[in-house]
Amino acid sequence: MSDTPVYFQQIVEDRALLTAEAIVELSKCSTLEELETIRVKYLGKNGTVTTLLKKLGSISSPIEKKEAGQYLNETKQDIEQKIEEKKRTFKQELLTKQLSAEWVDVTLPPRPEVQGRIHPVSRTMAEISAIFAAQGFAVAEGPEIEDDYHNFTALNFPENHPARQMHDTFFLRGEGQGARNEEKGNLDPPPSTLLLRTHTSPVQIRTMQSGKPPFRFIAPGRTFRCDSDMTHTPMFHQVEGFVIDKNIHMGHLKGCIESFLRAFFEMDNVPVRFRPSFFPFTEPSAEVDIGCKRDKGEIKIGAGADWLEVMGCGMVHPNVLKNCKLDPNEWQGFAFGMGVERLAMLKYGIPDLRTFFESDIRWLKHYGFSSLGDAS
Ligand code: DAH
Repeated sequence: MSDTPVYFQQIVEDRALLTAEAIVELSKCSTLEELETIRVKYLGKNGTVTTLLKKLGSISSPIEKKEAGQYLNETKQDIEQKIEEKKRTFKQELLTKQLSAEWVDVTLPPRPEVQGRIHPVSRTMAEISAIFAAQGFAVAEGPEIEDDYHNFTALNFPENHPARQMHDTFFLRGEGQGARNEEKGNLDPPPSTLLLRTHTSPVQIRTMQSGKPPFRFIAPGRTFRCDSDMTHTPMFHQVEGFVIDKNIHMGHLKGCIESFLRAFFEMDNVPVRFRPSFFPFTEPSAEVDIGCKRDKGEIKIGAGADWLEVMGCGMVHPNVLKNCKLDPNEWQGFAFGMGVERLAMLKYGIPDLRTFFESDIRWLKHYGFSSLGDAS
């Protein structure tokens, strides 16, 4: 082999050295990342073995070229095999570690399952809807972001009604919305002004605009007023009721509300009183009171010396019908609106309105309802 060219000689020597070097490095390596570094060092694109393989072309003797190629390929396979072995060992070790860390004691008793509770507002809305469904009422919905026209104007609110002013209503200043011009003393917003609906009554207008009479629906939903104290929260819930048909009179209104209150409070003889009142969208209008007894700050529904207001109602104002292109000589109806939280507080003895929206899980556990449908 004395006439062996430099490259061939070098490959023969390097090969032995390389394998030895790789074996030492592999024995020291202890992670998959380190193993990868070693692989790149020897077998990567610019790795030592790969570089030598590239040099094979410069050996002129075909026999030597073949021999050197065999040597190098053996080296390559040798190192590859050792890396693979090491990799397998690492993976096995990792798995063993994982298995011993994640063992499951199948003899342990199961943890009690946490069950959610239904919020009294949801429960009360469902109860109200069920009672009216049994009386043939459909359920209608409207947007929470309303415009001044549907929330006020179409409902026959006079132009300067205090409910339109800032202290009651959350007005939204959208693009292209004319801001209310208070400097010029004009307290009425332009009709396109957007706001958070202050009541569910605008659903009356939207439903009449999009459908044909007769109508018989309730509209449960969120309402908003810029007000916050013991008995007011900025967001609260109402259920609107609306009936339009031919020959509807106040007797229908009374019967409908009385039977609802009896069903809701589960009391056949709950005293009900209709007290004259005013709402722009009804004429005549009334407030509905139920009989109760106040005992050391606690309210007991039923016969007693006191009365408690539970909702507003009335016969739909002819102007409201006209605003929705209905002829008041042909169609009449009644409407009512009730506060859901107030009814829930009365029925379930919840003393403070603000607690409804504090999201205290202990409160929900106490006042909430089981989702399984029982009344507990
Ligand atoms: N929208 C009224 C309010 O929020 C409640 C109301 C009263 C609704 C009388 C009605 C009604 O439909 O007839 O104060």
